[in-house]
This record gives sequence, C-alpha cells and structure tokens, in this order.
Amino acid sequence: MTQPLITFNDGASLPQLGLGVWQVPDDEAAAIVQAAVEAGYRHVDTAAVYGNEAGVGAGLARAGAGAEVAVTTKLWNESQGYDRALRAFEKSLQRLGRDSVDLYLIHWPCPSQDLYVESWKALVRLKEEGRVRSIGVSNFNPDHLRRIVDETGVTPAVNQVELHPRFQQADLRAAHAELGILTECWSPLGQGRLLQDPAIGKIAAKHGKTPAQAIIRWHLDSGFLVIPKSANPERVRQNFQVFDFALDAEDMAAIAALDDANGRIGPDPAKFG
Ligand code: A2P
Repeated sequence: MTQPLITFNDGASLPQLGLGVWQVPDDEAAAIVQAAVEAGYRHVDTAAVYGNEAGVGAGLARAGAGAEVAVTTKLWNESQGYDRALRAFEKSLQRLGRDSVDLYLIHWPCPSQDLYVESWKALVRLKEEGRVRSIGVSNFNPDHLRRIVDETGVTPAVNQVELHPRFQQADLRAAHAELGILTECWSPLGQGRLLQDPAIGKIAAKHGKTPAQAIIRWHLDSGFLVIPKSANPERVRQNFQVFDFALDAEDMAAIAALDDANGRIGPDPAKFG
C-alpha cells in the first residue's frame, strides 16, 4: 500500500499518517507499535511525558523495522531551557533505544516559564549535530512561533496542535502558511467524541468507511500530518485503511460546517504549563 509522505521546509519528509500513543501504558506500547508497523505505519508519535518511550522503542525493535519507522518525541515542560533540553533529549534517546529521532518537538510553549526560545536554541543545535532530522514545536500560538523565528532565524518544520473537525484553527493555520510551517494534528478524532457526529456518520456511510476513517481522510485531504491514537490493534489497522478513497467538495463543506470556536478539548496553550 502506498502511503503519502509530506515534505518539511528543511527538505526532510515523513509519512503523513502516524500512530499516536498518548495514554497508551508503557507495557502496552510495544504490542500496539508492533501491530501498527505490521499494518503498514511508518511513523509513531510519542513524548517524554507519555511515559512510554521505552515501550515504543521495544515495539519498533520487535517489529524489526527500527531503522525505517520515523519517530517523533517531545521535550516535556519541566525540561525546558538550553542545558536541560539537551539532557532531556539524551534521556529520550536512551529510553527509545535509538541514536537519533526523526522529529523532536517542544511539547508546550509554557509562556509563564519564558524558556521556549532557549529550548528552541537547544533543538537547533541537536539538528545541526545530526541528532534529530527535523525540529518543530507543539501547541505554539502565532506569537510564540514568530518569536522563535525572529530570535533564531530557524523556522520549525511543524507545529503539532489540537485540531479536529470541531476545532479547525483557521487563524493558526494561516500563520503556518505564512511562515512555511506544516500543521500536525493531535486528538484528530476529537478524542473519539466526533465519532458519533451525524454529519461524519453520513460521510462515512457514503464512502463505505467508518467515522474514524472519514475523519482521518479529512485530515489527509486537508494536507495535515495526522496521528490518531488507538490502543486497540483492530482499530489501529482500521485507521490505516484510508488510502483508497477521497472526500468530495460536499463532504469537505459538511465538515467545514462543524467548526466551533469553542470546540477546544485540551488546555489553552497561552495559559498551560
Ligand atoms: P481506543 O484507544 O480504545 O481505540 P484521538 O486520536 O482524537 O485522541 O482519539 C483517540 C480516541 O478515539 C481513543 O479513545 C480511541 O480509543 C478512539 N479511537 C481511535 N480509533 C478509533 C476507531 N477507529 N474507532 C473507534 N474509536 C477509535
């Protein structure tokens, strides 16, 4: 099965669809990652704070595909700052059992700490040293993005943010387009809450697909990187069966109409951390 790759502003590319493992316990992560690799996934998204980097690394090793599966991990809030970020990165690598990762992100800007520029400088160094292929951020607002670009001259490859049909983030996406940053979506299924939506159900039925598949297809057709989470091997496989259909203009319009300025589920990045 051919899967789309998406190319960053630094020239590197990553499979557009990855497996998210937020809230997957460490002792279950290896099995789910192995199932995902067997299903065709070549991109896994974890984070230091998820507590499952070791399980993810074990799953990749067990699947025998460690070298070919792209891995994203993230710098946790308490490790922000130049030196702390460098040390936290080494610990993530040790837990993953790798000597580099494909994408390393600052997990939250934590504006009250005001350390994200220093953390970003550490990520720039890691990229220069070849320890990470690409660097990016997560949960950054346009003002945070502009500040790191202005102060370092280095633009993040991606900004991974909460984005799903009920919270479509038009203003943030406009800032990404202006700066040349790709949009990567966490909680792409609205943490499962969107799966009962009648408009989604109608689109899914029309294409002979499940609601989760219809929503993942919307992310792909919108040009986003997307990392649906599932701890269930059957649903992990289902979520990868999305490369044999496309949404039409009517479907896209119906999903556009679900957008809600109050649709955020997770924390507000301006206040969190
Ligand atoms: P589970 O892990 O039991 O499969 P998001 O990626 O937006 O955070 O959504 C994750 C939630 O959606 C989890 O609760 C996950 O449950 C559920 N989920 C993921 N894929 C599917 C699917 N194909 N069908 C139904 N629920 C799903």
